[in-house]
Amino acid sequence: MTLRVALLAAECEPWAKTGGLADVVDALARALGRLPEAGDGLAAPVDVLLPRYRSVPVPADAELEPPLLVPDPAGRGAITAHIVNVAAAGYRLRLVDVPEAFDRDAFYDHPDDPWRFALFCRVALAALKRDGTPLDVLHVHDWHTGPALIERARGEAAGDPFFADMAVLLTIHNLAYHGWVPNEALGELGLRREEPLAGDNPAGIDLLLTAIERSELANTVSPGFAAEALTPAFGMGLDPALRAKGGRFFGVLNGIDPDIWDPSTDPVLAARYSRSAPSGKADCRADLLTRVGFDPADEGIVLGMIGRMDPQKGFDLLADGAADLLAAGTRIVVQGSGHASLADPFRAMAAANPGRVALIERFDRDMARRIYAGADVFLMPSRFEPCGQGQMIALRFGTPPVVRRTGGLADSVIDADEHPGEGTGFVFDEATPAALVAAVARAADLRADDVEWTALRDRAMSVDFRWDTGSAPRYLEAYRRAVALRRAGVG
Ligand code: GLC
Repeated sequence: MTLRVALLAAECEPWAKTGGLADVVDALARALGRLPEAGDGLAAPVDVLLPRYRSVPVPADAELEPPLLVPDPAGRGAITAHIVNVAAAGYRLRLVDVPEAFDRDAFYDHPDDPWRFALFCRVALAALKRDGTPLDVLHVHDWHTGPALIERARGEAAGDPFFADMAVLLTIHNLAYHGWVPNEALGELGLRREEPLAGDNPAGIDLLLTAIERSELANTVSPGFAAEALTPAFGMGLDPALRAKGGRFFGVLNGIDPDIWDPSTDPVLAARYSRSAPSGKADCRADLLTRVGFDPADEGIVLGMIGRMDPQKGFDLLADGAADLLAAGTRIVVQGSGHASLADPFRAMAAANPGRVALIERFDRDMARRIYAGADVFLMPSRFEPCGQGQMIALRFGTPPVVRRTGGLADSVIDADEHPGEGTGFVFDEATPAALVAAVARAADLRADDVEWTALRDRAMSVDFRWDTGSAPRYLEAYRRAVALRRAGVG
């Protein structure tokens, strides 16, 4: 049987990105299209449906489908939507174009987000149904695509075989954002409090919970985080629902795309390097340090950190540990965008310590690559981390990561002191500045030994996180399992 699969997501690189979700959706869709099963056991290329936000660049040769007329989820008549098909690299990108919902500056944080994403799901499913081929698996991502489960339940209740035959896999990238819709806004989703579809919380509906409960299968993006998410400490209130899913909730470690992240071909870097010819990394270090106003001749350890300025990522741990790090001769390069207040301490530190602390307060793809390549160690002290991508990229760039022992970080970095001869970075336990500082000190100690450090870097660069052989086949397996569960009526 050939499976037809569509991915539904609020982000997809390079079209629309605020975080790792975008990279994963793009890389997974491409990897699925390259699997040996593609075209045979898997209809390829797969479809990725994405809202057409204002900033999405639409190529001139995009194909415009005839307009679709769908009922407004909030019951305010009918809405005209367009589907714009774009041949992306290895999949078909289908932009859901409804200007009143998406032609706005920011992707998220509008008061009518539940309505916007309910509409997105409705239009996406209407487009997939109009194709005329049954859809075996709808692969939804995070709360924004939770309304698809409401849509499916409605279609099924109406006796529509398109919905009755469609299995759903939910991938949770971010358990912290639920898509909470209070009772007063239920009408925006076309729901009434008393109907069973609205769930049994008397105060409103949690769209991520809805997707967890109603999907055949749910996963998160590492086995480590999947285990943590079952506990009240990490479950963000959803641990009971995840526990109730039993074996139908699991972890699949994300990959990275080794062609996108490749220091041996990256045109942005001052020099190219690889495992067999690593010397260019020193030029990348000198280039980074010069660009941020540090002395490139100073051999002292340089710490790089990149990420969304979100409390999840632990920027505050670095800020609070920075005085001790600076006292030990460490220099720090931080790149982040998001909550400006989290950047405040770094702004102050950079002003007070020119040449020792640098803050790049924006999302800058090129600069990020220079940091991955040019830093001596990469820092990722997340409080929780479903998977994390920075540590994987840092490994690929031969920059040993210092990470907290949590979620996907613990699954992807091996501590060099705990496992001599096998380690790829440094792992610390407590979410405290002192633990972070101690881990950086361990890295600095090992770095003092040239032979050991060269071997560590080499092992870091040898780690293979490619999707094609790793996680993409696991998703295909999950799709098959979801279909079997749907057929058996387990959902
Ligand atoms: C979210 C998670 C991150 C994960 C990414 C992609 O951003 O916080 O850990 O790597 O999604 O799955």
